[in-house]
Amino acid sequence: MMPKASSDYLPALRFSVLTPFYDPLVALTLRERTFKHELRRQADVEPGHAVLDVGCGTGTLAIWMKQACPAIAMTGIDADPAMLVRAKGKAERIGVDIAFEQGLSSHLPHADRTFDRIVSSLFFHHLARVETEKTIAEMFRVLKPGGLLCVADWGKPTNVLMRLLFWPVQLFDGFSRTQDNVAGLLPQLFRQGGFTEVAVQGSLATVHGSLAFYRAAKLSADGDG
Ligand SMILES: C[S@@+](CC[C@H](N)C(=O)[O-])C[C@H]1O[C@@H](n2cnc3c(N)ncnc32)[C@H](O)[C@@H]1O
Repeated sequence: MMPKASSDYLPALRFSVLTPFYDPLVALTLRERTFKHELRRQADVEPGHAVLDVGCGTGTLAIWMKQACPAIAMTGIDADPAMLVRAKGKAERIGVDIAFEQGLSSHLPHADRTFDRIVSSLFFHHLARVETEKTIAEMFRVLKPGGLLCVADWGKPTNVLMRLLFWPVQLFDGFSRTQDNVAGLLPQLFRQGGFTEVAVQGSLATVHGSLAFYRAAKLSADGDG
């Protein structure tokens, strides 16, 4: 299903007119290099892996993953065509081969058991609960048994300051979409979606609140994570 318009999804900075400012804003305020390389490290990709970045935006994480391990088959999917234009342009300029696709996370256009790894950064807080549940089900479906889901997104604040700093994000992106993040409910939702060995792998303080790292496994056929 092709996304119709931004009524189907929340654009990166809520209003499409702000899209050109996305990359500089994230680089300046979110310790982007630190957290995206940490997420890449946690995903533990190996040559030959098929890797999907859901809500890939302008493609920074996908590009850094492909640069770090050129022998992976990297795919990025996002609902917003304007973000994908930027992602494709960046990948072309840098000279990395990544498949960028347009689509909704709740209806991934991939066959069952396609990917060894699924990664996602700053994405889940853009979804209402029902979309989160559909997205987790889709991620589980397209992940191979034995595969891993690795996520970096807003998490339960680690202290009062982090809680206060997250308020502007909630005002901007919406309280209903962000409440599962701030309540620390993502791990529970991953488990409900069939994932096992769900763990919070750490958090990072930013000027917009606590970023949390999550890791979840799909059991292999013989029962291993
Ligand atoms: C805050 S941006 C994060 C982009 C990128 N992952 C990063 O870390 O910089 C959230 C992205 O999710 C995308 N998005 C929102 N809802 C979506 C959905 N239902 N399906 C696919 N992409 C979606 C938006 O278009 C946007 O590019």
